[in-house]
Amino acid sequence: MQTDQQFLDMMKQLPDVLAPSLAEDWPELPVVKAQGAYLYTADGRRYLDFTSGIGVTNVGHCHPRVLEAASRQMHEMVHSAVGVTIHKSLLELCEALTAVLPPKMDMFFFGNSGAEAVEGAIKLARYVSRRPGIIAFEGGFHGRSYGAASVTSVKSKYRDHYEPFVPGVYFVPYPYAYRCPLGNTPDAALDWTLMSLRRLFQHQIPPSQVAAVLVEPVQGEGGYIVPPRDFLQALRRICDEYGIYLILDEVQCGFGRTGEMFAAQVFGVQPDIMSIAKGIASGFPLGATVASRELMRRWKAGSHGTTFGGNPVACAAGLATLQVIAEENLLENARRMGKRFLAGLQSLQAQYPSIGEARGLGLMLAIEMIVPGSDKEPDPRAAMDLLNLCLERGLLAYMAGTFGQVVRFIPPLIVTAEQVDQALNILDEALSIISHRP
Ligand SMILES: Cc1ncc(COP(=O)(O)O)c(C=O)c1O
Repeated sequence: MQTDQQFLDMMKQLPDVLAPSLAEDWPELPVVKAQGAYLYTADGRRYLDFTSGIGVTNVGHCHPRVLEAASRQMHEMVHSAVGVTIHKSLLELCEALTAVLPPKMDMFFFGNSGAEAVEGAIKLARYVSRRPGIIAFEGGFHGRSYGAASVTSVKSKYRDHYEPFVPGVYFVPYPYAYRCPLGNTPDAALDWTLMSLRRLFQHQIPPSQVAAVLVEPVQGEGGYIVPPRDFLQALRRICDEYGIYLILDEVQCGFGRTGEMFAAQVFGVQPDIMSIAKGIASGFPLGATVASRELMRRWKAGSHGTTFGGNPVACAAGLATLQVIAEENLLENARRMGKRFLAGLQSLQAQYPSIGEARGLGLMLAIEMIVPGSDKEPDPRAAMDLLNLCLERGLLAYMAGTFGQVVRFIPPLIVTAEQVDQALNILDEALSIISHRP
């Protein structure tokens, strides 16, 4: 591939044109083409993309079916302010989503992003319950707009200088067995969470004032933390007991990422409200707040709205994305490749003491880096060095975790065994370099 020198020269302007809050992000690859599991950059290099645009391009970059559907729609109508005009692809997408979502998740409010899908969920829960309280989890990430940031606590940096937040939000610990103060078993982690929830009800807000419990079924930005199997069911029981709505934020773990279409199906839990986005339309901006018709119908006309939400091109791309996931049997591939990748990560963990834990579900996988010989001291430097060494060798992965100590892998669901093995070989080489440095 030829070098795109003009693009590379323009990259020098980046610090002058992009807000630094974003531009500090990593590693700013100048991409000229994206196809399947690969990114091609202006300097003529090819990278195996194990970020999928942070969990978005689940069917691979530029899938021809998605492109074809979007481009067909583009020639018919690009924009529809839903409510003023309506378009067929939106209705088709509602039908297709209802078929793959958990039961009774059959009414939609479309927006453009994950944060909007979360905002909608919180507003809906408060509106219909007439209660103020929202319970969220430490380490959670739900987006950057004010409502979504108010329920986000993965890093205090994301909250610093933005106070005051939306009031009525309470945090309890997520069941993170690896770092649970009660003990490092799933049972201890679950006890810790439920005990904290009970204490919250006793000391800070009675359950009768709580509108919703908002939770990521697998914590994403928090470090790909898979909770104990009974966690979501336990939350369901508590919500039922007190008439609280259970909101599942499936923005990152939805659309096949965990090996089922939604993580709710992995854990066998029925949500009241869901937030979905990212993988929904393979990169076209789209998200949705979802609930049952019974619940949604209580959200009166005019109480929430949008100009761009449910964009026709994004809806057409979303419909094609769902068809590709089904026809290419991508859930099955996510489960098989996820098992292969996790087994490989676990064997690297056995080899390298700098890996504290290898974990994940489906193709949502991570390693947590610690200082070898320490008491699980998080090692963000090792995580960043590992990411850079992988990048030099053609593998793009991403960071996560409160301290930046986690390296997460988000390959597309189309990933092959050869690509998984190649990634594991690159990781092995990179870890070996890290383990030999002074
Ligand atoms: C679980 C979760 N919820 C919400 C969001 C926010 O999505 P967006 O960046 O599209 O606003 C994210 C983004 O990473 C996420 O991981």
